Amino acid sequence: MIIISIGNLKGGVGKSFTAAQMGYQLTQKHDATALLLENDKQGNLAKFFGTYNRNGICPAAKLLMGLNTAEEVIQETDYPGLDIISANMSLLTASMDLQQDMTEEQCRRFESLKYAVNKKGRPYDYVIIDNPPDIGLNVINALAITNDVIVPIKIDQWALEGMDIMTGQISQMKAINPDIRFMGALVTMYKNNVTNAAGVEWLKKHDVKLFDTFIRYSDKAAESTLFQKPIQEYSPRSGTARSYRQFVQEYIEKIELERLLEV
Ligand SMILES: Nc1ncnc2c1ncn2[C@@H]1O[C@H](COP(=O)(O)OP(=O)(O)OP(=O)(O)O)[C@@H](O)[C@H]1O
Ligand SMILES: [Mg+2]
Repeated sequence: MIIISIGNLKGGVGKSFTAAQMGYQLTQKHDATALLLENDKQGNLAKFFGTYNRNGICPAAKLLMGLNTAEEVIQETDYPGLDIISANMSLLTASMDLQQDMTEEQCRRFESLKYAVNKKGRPYDYVIIDNPPDIGLNVINALAITNDVIVPIKIDQWALEGMDIMTGQISQMKAINPDIRFMGALVTMYKNNVTNAAGVEWLKKHDVKLFDTFIRYSDKAAESTLFQKPIQEYSPRSGTARSYRQFVQEYIEKIELERLLEV
């Protein structure tokens, strides 16, 4: 099992979109199983997959409060092999409750995700955590079990704002989670114009570790979320769909190569 955290302190950079597309692509096209943990009170992922419930304590909050194990709160999506643990506003209260008395135990509330099995009794190949644009204790809990951190970034004047805090946090987490690493920044909503090209040059000059694939901007992306359809189904020939296919392929090849080198 590989646990991936999608994170960036900046809002609206494509974190949730990336989590949803990776989940879809890995399970529907690469024959893997995946569990999405929505670690964001906004509930965007749950709304997208139709598992959102605005009332009561959400499954993600139950996990964070230590009321349930991951397996007890897993919900199925319409896509075979792709399950989800959804959130709503109650995740905020759960996270604030933890804040009052931070102990190491309180950073290990997501531990049961590592051992979660699906309805068929099989461990998941991937757990993908969609994080909010902040670093609350729920995010610390996510980083405590994460292998690979992927940071979506949107090219603008402040693209790298908060990146040092994020990478600093990853280094700090190594004390309790030696397996964590910064896998790379993923350029999202890339447009073929001078500004974006200059932005990428700037990132490279500043030694930002980037994935080779850039996710293309297209109007179809926002439309697809309105229609609650993964971009691969809504508009498979759009630049956004093509680039997510390429990105997932790049990610898989990277981890497979590393596995080979380890042996
Ligand atoms: N490649 C793309 N092209 C065009 N629009 C996109 C693309 N990716 C995402 N979007 C749109 O950008 C908006 C923000 O995306 P998303 O919700 O994934 O960001 P986020 O980083 O999760 O935001 P938040 O920090 O609020 O959680 C959404 O409306 C989404 O549909
Ligand atoms: Mg989001």
